[in-house]
Amino acid sequence: MDKVRPLLVFSLQLLCSCQAASTLSNGFFYQDIINGNGNGEIFFNGVKLQIEAQLPSVFTVSGNNITLPCNFWYEPPLSSPRKVRVKWAWLPVFGDSESDVLVAIDHRHRSFGDFKDRVYLQQDFPGDISLVITNVSLNDSGQYRCEVIDGLEDESATVHLELRGVVFPYQPRHGRYHMTFRAARQACEEQDAAVATFDQLYTAWEEGLDWCNAGWLADGTVQYPITQPRTPCGGLDLAPGLRSYGMRHKHMHRYDVFCFSSSIRGRVYYLQHPQRLNFTEAVQACVEDGAQIAKVGHLFAAWKFLGLDRCDAGWLADGSLRYPITNPRPNCGPNEPGVRSFGFPSPYHKHGVYCYSSR
Ligand SMILES: *[C@@H]1O[C@H](CO)[C@@H](O)[C@H](O)[C@H]1NC(C)=O
Ligand SMILES: *[C@@H]1O[C@H](CO)[C@@H](O)[C@H](O)[C@H]1NC(C)=O
Ligand SMILES: *[C@@H]1O[C@H](CO)[C@@H](O)[C@H](O)[C@H]1NC(C)=O
Ligand SMILES: *[C@@H]1O[C@H](CO)[C@@H](O)[C@H](O)[C@H]1NC(C)=O
Repeated sequence: MDKVRPLLVFSLQLLCSCQAASTLSNGFFYQDIINGNGNGEIFFNGVKLQIEAQLPSVFTVSGNNITLPCNFWYEPPLSSPRKVRVKWAWLPVFGDSESDVLVAIDHRHRSFGDFKDRVYLQQDFPGDISLVITNVSLNDSGQYRCEVIDGLEDESATVHLELRGVVFPYQPRHGRYHMTFRAARQACEEQDAAVATFDQLYTAWEEGLDWCNAGWLADGTVQYPITQPRTPCGGLDLAPGLRSYGMRHKHMHRYDVFCFSSSIRGRVYYLQHPQRLNFTEAVQACVEDGAQIAKVGHLFAAWKFLGLDRCDAGWLADGSLRYPITNPRPNCGPNEPGVRSFGFPSPYHKHGVYCYSSR
């Protein structure tokens, strides 16, 4: 935990320095006026530009369309509309610099980078500059800043985008503590997931996740969540919480990973099939059913969000064997709900299969 705090402070400072930058330019401009009339009030031709993001945070899941609210107005109101420049920028959860999302003047707009052709301004009423993001991706979470530039005036407001989802520990076929940070990131992506952030793991811990293998998080730290302190997992003396190894070397050190999956679009199901299947046959059987073999992230999302409950072990795309239980019962694993895992059996073994269909 100690190692995490400096990072949070660091990112807060970053946010503050952006804020400071915009007030600074205003401050410079207003200086003369303030000095001029000496009453400390700030006026711009007698009219003040106001901007507001009505919500501090917006929550969604990947694949959805989402609106980040923001609007501006003048006090007192203007008699005729003025031409302004609108800009949305984005500071990723663990990014160190803002990047442009969209810039608009009148009805023309341009979007950038990963947001290209995926964002537009809502414009439901005059001054409505809410940002609509379509097909939200796991990478989109972070802080968004809307900004209005009107001649010399420049005001901004911020809103957070957070994704709801499920965190799951992931260990590859070759076993425990085998992944560099880069391999960990790839492993999560292959499961239709992303490396979890500290906040996501913390929320999962609050909801009861207890896991005694350390895994990478998106900020480059390595941690694990413990709800029931015990000797092999940091000891009995430590209170429940996230145990942190702090920042680890991204190329040299190897651990497991915590992945975050948010997708609930589509359908995950246990394939009804007359025979048990080896891995190759399982992949093929889902294709023949008009679907694809489910990824680990799909199964966790379906368990968490759609209440998938099935006491039959099935193949998944990474070659692992698992089943999801929401109503614990005898002969279906432990007393708590969860996705039960049997590791990676030989691909010649015969089992059932979970398929995923995006429709
Ligand atoms: C998102 O919006 C696009 C059009 O902008 C629409 O085609 C699509 O169906 C919407 N998706 C969802 C999940 O509502
Ligand atoms: C939504 O984005 C994902 C990648 O995040 C992509 O695979 C998918 O095709 C996109 N869907 C639509 C409807 O654009
Ligand atoms: C998310 O970001 C990672 C790393 O920057 C990238 O490799 C991946 O393709 C991105 N995923 C999506 C769905 O945009
Ligand atoms: C699965 O069974 C098929 C025959 O149905 C066989 O051709 C294939 O080699 C087997 N694959 C594995 C990985 O066992």
